[in-house]
Amino acid sequence: MTTPRFSDLNVSTRILLGPGPSMASPRVLRAMATPPVGHLDPDLLQIYTEEQQLLRYVFQTENEWTFALSGTGTSGMEAALANLIEPGDAALIAIHGYFGERLAEMATRLGAEVDRIERPLGEIFSLKEIETALKRKRYKVFAIVHAETSTGAEQLHIGEIAAAAHRYGALIVLDTVTSLGSIPVKIDEWDIDIAYSASQKSLGAPSGLAPITVSERAREVIQKRKSPPPSFYLDLALYAKYWGEEHAYHHTASASLHYALREALRIAAEEGLKARFARHRANAELLWAGLEEIGVPPFIPPEYRLPPLTTARVPEGVDPHRVRTRLLKEYNIEIAAGFGALKDKVWRIGLMGYSSRRENVLLLLAALRELLRS
Ligand SMILES: Cc1ncc(COP(=O)(O)O)c(C=O)c1O
Repeated sequence: MTTPRFSDLNVSTRILLGPGPSMASPRVLRAMATPPVGHLDPDLLQIYTEEQQLLRYVFQTENEWTFALSGTGTSGMEAALANLIEPGDAALIAIHGYFGERLAEMATRLGAEVDRIERPLGEIFSLKEIETALKRKRYKVFAIVHAETSTGAEQLHIGEIAAAAHRYGALIVLDTVTSLGSIPVKIDEWDIDIAYSASQKSLGAPSGLAPITVSERAREVIQKRKSPPPSFYLDLALYAKYWGEEHAYHHTASASLHYALREALRIAAEEGLKARFARHRANAELLWAGLEEIGVPPFIPPEYRLPPLTTARVPEGVDPHRVRTRLLKEYNIEIAAGFGALKDKVWRIGLMGYSSRRENVLLLLAALRELLRS
């Protein structure tokens, strides 16, 4: 057999303005190049302690069970549901886009009796709608997406929705994959039971870790399960033993990814949450104004439009795929197509974490203006 030979890695340095991954700052990339150590090395355990404090800061929580799972955002989703749901449990899932749909699919696979409430793509739920659905029966779990990356809509009234869930006896699971790090996520103030996120969006690290935080209330429910969760890998009690004082081996976590996430979180803490949210909003507003000007208006009304993810209407007669391909080829800029029914109707533009920069907005607007002319 001949020895296979390949040239050096040949990957372009893209300007990532899609729905994630976002760009990682050079500081994060340098941290990632630190030599890996063992998964129980005292230096890595110290990094976990710091990462945990920083995660509590961005989640705005005191929850003891706050970790970063080895896996992408989907592992956070699966962990939240798999640790709470036992076969036959009733679950209510709010669906206002693709990721709500995915939650419903997961809950069904876990053996829950799933009821759905739905809003058309691009809309959000009123508190009343959710309250009416919660009243129908005693649900063990209610799950909802805070920032729907498939539509660019922010679900408002999360604190009131959580209070309603608790009033009717349900635990609330909140998807903060796109929102954490770019808009307020107030886990303790809103009284959320489990929230999960992902490293590669508004936090600004590469993909591969899923931050998660669990309330006391949810912890008790998990600890009183009749049987252990169906997933060993995503068993949160085992995670707690690995991240807690015992440091019991659970899996060989990637030190490199934790170096990166810790650095990205350190950058967030240095910037401060208030300033970080203001930066995301200011750059998004610049984008929105520019898009209106070039005839590509945002799809979502301003009241619940997401700063980290904008869906922009494709103008009549324009081939959305051709524009995206040319943006990538000629300008090195990545944006994404729409999802499902919105596929050819909108582009999805992300301004998350390190990607949320004034110069990126100006460059994208100039490139789009040029491409829409030719
Ligand atoms: C709202 C939301 N939830 C969950 C996910 C899944 O995360 P991942 O692709 O990192 O597994 C995504 C990814 O885009 C998302 O936007």
